[in-house]
Amino acid sequence: MSVQDQPTITSAYRSVGVTFESLVCNSEEFREALRLAASAASKDVSILLLGETGTGKNLIAQAIHNASRRHNKPFVSVNCSAIPDTLLEAELFGSEKGAYTSADKLRRGKFELADGGTLFLDEIGDMSAVAQAKVLRAFEYRQFERVGGEQTLHTDVRIIAATNRSMEQLLTSGKFREDLFYRMNEFTIEVPPLRKRKAEIEPLSQRFIRECNERFGTHIKGIEPAAMQRMQAHDWPGNVRELRAVIKRASVAAPGDMIRADDLRLAVAPTTTDEIVPPNADSSLAGMEARHIEKVLKQTGWNKKETSSLLGISRPTLDRKISEYNLKKPE
Ligand SMILES: Nc1ncnc2c1ncn2[C@@H]1O[C@H](COP(=O)(O)OP(=O)(O)OP(=O)(O)O)[C@@H](O)[C@H]1O
Ligand SMILES: [Mg+2]
Repeated sequence: MSVQDQPTITSAYRSVGVTFESLVCNSEEFREALRLAASAASKDVSILLLGETGTGKNLIAQAIHNASRRHNKPFVSVNCSAIPDTLLEAELFGSEKGAYTSADKLRRGKFELADGGTLFLDEIGDMSAVAQAKVLRAFEYRQFERVGGEQTLHTDVRIIAATNRSMEQLLTSGKFREDLFYRMNEFTIEVPPLRKRKAEIEPLSQRFIRECNERFGTHIKGIEPAAMQRMQAHDWPGNVRELRAVIKRASVAAPGDMIRADDLRLAVAPTTTDEIVPPNADSSLAGMEARHIEKVLKQTGWNKKETSSLLGISRPTLDRKISEYNLKKPE
């Protein structure tokens, strides 16, 4: 996890210079998500960003803010999963001096600090029932009282919420209030996972290599074709964040100026068909290895060069294993 990725309760009062143009985009799927986000940016609707972890929701939220009429005002980010219920109310709405024993001065909450700008409620799917009840009114009317205060305050904020949890599941299991969901769901944008936009792997990798060269003084020029193939075959459950970490690691580990497949330390991705294991299948390690090799051979149409590179083993080792496990190319 990079410093910039670490969860914090409040990350920034002014969004850094993230714009839609600064995001790497090379696929129809991601382009469509960005088009929707850019279109909603100017309209002041509440936006709900859905997508797996590491897909770029935080960056998109900042880009929306920077493209909106509110760009000169604060971008206040709140990580809802990081705040215990006992602190949440004061964190969001502020507290008057003397509201509780340690309250030695008036403290403004995030709704107030974001006035005129954007309030980014991150990890909203992790909000407890208590917290959800507390934000409902502020969400609907933009009204709240500081803890220990009587005066009702009004704030003018655009709310962007994000979660990597399945909203559908949270709603059906009753873990998320429907009334709150409908209020924040004026406009939903789904950010696709990296495995559905693999055309971005290469340009993102180039971007991250440049970043590493600048930050760590590495001198990486590019990625060997076998390494790129391995990355294309990977499923990327951690999405762009995972890719960034892999490239960072590989850039530092690579002995030369090119990243090799071995530098990536990536397991070969399972394919959609591979999980159907016969009930009587040999589940010893060797048995699993045999099935895995056979699967990758099938995937590459028995191209041994590609298979050995995807598996991260040498060609003679592959040949040896094929004969050891008696794997046969289908007729
Ligand atoms: N399109 C992109 N171009 C450049 N960098 C990207 C892009 N998408 C994501 N990243 C990088 O990937 C990392 C993860 O992105 P981000 O924090 O926005 O993900 P997230 O969807 O908010 O994840 P989580 O659900 O875990 O909070 C960040 O380091 C970000 O800079
Ligand atoms: Mg995030």
